[in-house]
Amino acid sequence: MNTALQDQSIVIAGGSGFLGVSLAQHLSDAGASVTILSRRPPRNAGPWKHVAWDGRTVGEWQECLDGAFGLVNLAGRSVNCIKSPDHQDEILRSRVESTRVLGEALRSVAAPPSVWAQMSTAHIYGDPPRLECHEDSPFGYGLAPFVGQAWEEALREALLPSQRHVILRTGFVLGRDRGSGGGALQTLARLTRWGLGGKVGSGQQGMSWIHEVDMNRLFERALTDATMSGPYIASGPNPTAQVDFMRDLRRVLGVPVGLPATTWMVRLGAHFLMRTDPELVLYGRYVVSKRLAEEGFQFRFPQLPQALDDLLR
Ligand SMILES: NC(=O)c1ccc[n+]([C@@H]2O[C@H](COP(=O)([O-])OP(=O)(O)OC[C@H]3O[C@@H](n4cnc5c(N)ncnc54)[C@H](OP(=O)(O)O)[C@@H]3O)[C@@H](O)[C@H]2O)c1
Repeated sequence: MNTALQDQSIVIAGGSGFLGVSLAQHLSDAGASVTILSRRPPRNAGPWKHVAWDGRTVGEWQECLDGAFGLVNLAGRSVNCIKSPDHQDEILRSRVESTRVLGEALRSVAAPPSVWAQMSTAHIYGDPPRLECHEDSPFGYGLAPFVGQAWEEALREALLPSQRHVILRTGFVLGRDRGSGGGALQTLARLTRWGLGGKVGSGQQGMSWIHEVDMNRLFERALTDATMSGPYIASGPNPTAQVDFMRDLRRVLGVPVGLPATTWMVRLGAHFLMRTDPELVLYGRYVVSKRLAEEGFQFRFPQLPQALDDLLR
């Protein structure tokens, strides 16, 4: 148990989804008293409290920040959708406006939290096919890098002058199925069991992944280690090509074959069957954190087969 969190109050904005519930459980196990701030109640029951907000306007919900030890902000509409203009708009606004309103709320309470741990995306580096990206690599082009930068800029504007902040530019979080959503890994596992877990496009696009246990340990460290500050890549030390990721996944699931999918098959399937954005699987990136290595963070699941085995067997 982390004694630094014992009986401390942590607020998780946007904590009702896959990562929020996982983190709420982790921080509760570490002795914290967790409040989830979201429009809908969390998907799972647990030792946390739920407070409703709209993610845009200050209201009575701000009281949960008064006297809190730390704030975690995960709020954001899922990017797993067709990128219609209204979805793109919501992807951006749900992140920027919720971050802004948290900043407004912090200014209206007597004892605001001294640390803010902020979700961001490893997609901020774009989709370079082979280049390995580190914290100081240039940002990419397109919707995701634009949204990532706007999100981080909104955070910098929302912070209190004295507040420590940590930004976690997160890769693909591999999570356990809790019966109400285990993130994209569970979808990939389902497709693989149907024989569809093969190479996609060239298969060389990078998959930068992190086990949810390490993700939660990173948030915990961000909240409690006063030496952590600014942006970090929150992804494991061994990103892998899509074709190799799927080979390891098939092995763990005991599925001998996975049909390959060409680019046009993925585009049609994503649009008409999955109602999502094909670029989420056709492109990727290799990101590795230099800062976490320098600061001695030890991943509990650095190797993909071991991570998949833990989550799926
Ligand atoms: N899962 C990953 O692998 C991964 C990787 C990198 C970054 N991230 C980011 O981490 C965050 C959490 O991810 P997740 O997998 O837990 O996603 P999730 O299950 O879709 O949960 C998203 C959270 O954001 C809230 N939200 C959605 N639309 C909102 C809006 N318009 N206004 C305010 N709040 C809104 C949801 O709460 P309500 O709808 O109940 O309000 C929910 O609490 C997201 O911002 C995501 O982009 C995730």
